[in-house]
Amino acid sequence: MKITVLNGSPKGEESGTVYFVKYIQQKNPQHEYEYFNVAQAIKKIENDPQEFDRIIESVKNSDGVIWSFPLYVYLVHSGYKRFIELIWEREAEDVFRDKYAVSVATSIHFFDHTAINYMHSICDDLNMRYIDFFSADMSDLTKENQRKKLLLFAQNFFEQMEQKRITIKAYQPIIDNTKEYIPTEIKAPLNTKGQSMVIVTDSMDQDKNIGRMVKQFQEFTQADLVDLSSIKINGGCTGCISCGFDNECMYGEKDDIKKTYQKLKKYDILVFAGTIRDRFLSARWKTFIDRRFFITHQPHFSGKQIAYLISGPLSQIHNLREVLQANAELDETNLVSILTDESASSSEIDERMEALAQNLIECSLQGYIRPQTFLGIGGMKIFRDDIWGRLRMVFQSDHRYYKKHGKYDFPQKDIGTRVLNAIMIPLTKIPSVKKSIQRDMKKHMISANQEILRKK
Ligand SMILES: Cc1cc2nc3c(=O)[nH]c(=O)nc-3n(C[C@H](O)[C@H](O)[C@H](O)COP(=O)(O)O)c2cc1C
Repeated sequence: MKITVLNGSPKGEESGTVYFVKYIQQKNPQHEYEYFNVAQAIKKIENDPQEFDRIIESVKNSDGVIWSFPLYVYLVHSGYKRFIELIWEREAEDVFRDKYAVSVATSIHFFDHTAINYMHSICDDLNMRYIDFFSADMSDLTKENQRKKLLLFAQNFFEQMEQKRITIKAYQPIIDNTKEYIPTEIKAPLNTKGQSMVIVTDSMDQDKNIGRMVKQFQEFTQADLVDLSSIKINGGCTGCISCGFDNECMYGEKDDIKKTYQKLKKYDILVFAGTIRDRFLSARWKTFIDRRFFITHQPHFSGKQIAYLISGPLSQIHNLREVLQANAELDETNLVSILTDESASSSEIDERMEALAQNLIECSLQGYIRPQTFLGIGGMKIFRDDIWGRLRMVFQSDHRYYKKHGKYDFPQKDIGTRVLNAIMIPLTKIPSVKKSIQRDMKKHMISANQEILRKK
């Protein structure tokens, strides 16, 4: 069998993820493997068509593809995302049809599922025969039981390929349900009641819905504008994590990323705008998102109101909606709403736009931040544990921040609960006490809430 390995780490040969694949290779030397560092070499791949063709030629001649990638901010690295965009842009999608595919991802399991879902859906969109994913913690190769699992996973991949087994699709093709948006006449500009607002977009192209939506929203709200397509971005995140000590990016002030993030921090309301490309926002947007990592695992926009203006079929891409919601929660912001140009007339979109702008102002004045869901709470627990533990040495800035802002909320520190457990658990060993607690369980569970209402 011939396997093409598409390495999604910006670290190229120094990728930790690719060692998982090399381990598979070491144990299965009967197959032929060809590696491409697509995320690291993305500029070359973009600028030199022959470089892109070389990869496509390898895929063409292979039986299967291993998508090997590290998690980068809920998804894959911006360079990998760009490579995926190029597949369609350069009309190479047919080469992937019917090729067997697996994903091998490494991470700290923070939203690994959204990256894996994304890659699975891309494989389905490419009509590949997607078999399975292996989502490893970055240190799993050092663990014998995980290595065993990895080899079983690989064995399954090779066997299914050899037997040309039928695979099952999980994602239906996306149907474009957007219409041309022609802005209607705007009402008098919104009274922003002293709240400052900025729109961050990757396109102001007036030939596209997104450009017109942004212009309309801006005219109505008088918001400031940041156009990601015109700011200076020298490259994607390189994964060097030198930012971990003091939040200083290796790019420094050489491009506009740092100053743009600093500028955004000054506003009360942030509106992000973009067009869906494949099943996420554009690679340009993803570059901007990845490069935010110089602030590492700390919230950057605490207390702000946010919204999205999106052109494209978001209602068919729940995975993307989940990422946007999670990102808002982890940043301690309030995601007021996401407005798209799906299945609505231009006047309906304008009405919604007006309502959204008003909601943003009201929420901002009230300082309302919706309580977090599992996405924010669960995600933060992963960060908390890893920053306190194994990642503290490299992410010392996060450690200082977490200490200062009470992020180390380990349950062991809750003395009241510990005392209660220490007294009550032995008591529940007495059958009559246990029975009485069980009998009144529902009452016990609401007694604290009842007390709040009693106090008025
Ligand atoms: C900029 C950046 C973003 C990351 N984002 C995530 C993430 O969203 N979720 C996660 O679990 N790990 C995340 N990680 C951790 C990497 O996925 C992990 O360290 C991976 O093993 C690196 O693999 P590589 O050596 O092949 O690049 C991130 C690391 C960096 C540097």
